[in-house]
Amino acid sequence: MIQTLLKAATGTRMEATDTLFSAARAVQARAHAPYSRFHVGAAIRDETGAVHAGCNVENAAYPVGTCAEAGAIAAMIAAGGRRIAAILVLGDGEALVTPCGACRQRIREFAAPDTPIHVAGPAGVRRTFTLDELLPASFGPDNLA
Ligand code: THU
Repeated sequence: MIQTLLKAATGTRMEATDTLFSAARAVQARAHAPYSRFHVGAAIRDETGAVHAGCNVENAAYPVGTCAEAGAIAAMIAAGGRRIAAILVLGDGEALVTPCGACRQRIREFAAPDTPIHVAGPAGVRRTFTLDELLPASFGPDNLA
């Protein structure tokens, strides 16, 4: 279903960010968020151009729930992608749905300081940050070298 949607999106020569938005919107609709009722979708373009998407998956044991970004990263890794070239996060409501602190660190593992993080609402991208703006002076794999 998402693959069909993505094929259609690329077939109509949509802009790269529009493709991420469409993928995030498709999975946002499948979020399992019965507790917060806050549905989030995330889509990643990897180093090959492939797109991977994930949604939040809540749990009756609240802390066990996972964010949309975590799902998208897991999908990327499982599909063989290794680097985040761009990521888009889509949520509803008035406030910007920027990635939570833990997800900023999750993104950090696979992204560069200048990797764009697009923050979208139902009408489209509202703001674009770099990873370094959202997680300055961060700790990453190179700190272990
Ligand atoms: N959530 C995400 O999935 N990503 C974000 O960037 C912000 C928050 C989810 C977690 C939880 O299921 C719900 O939104 C409310 O916090």
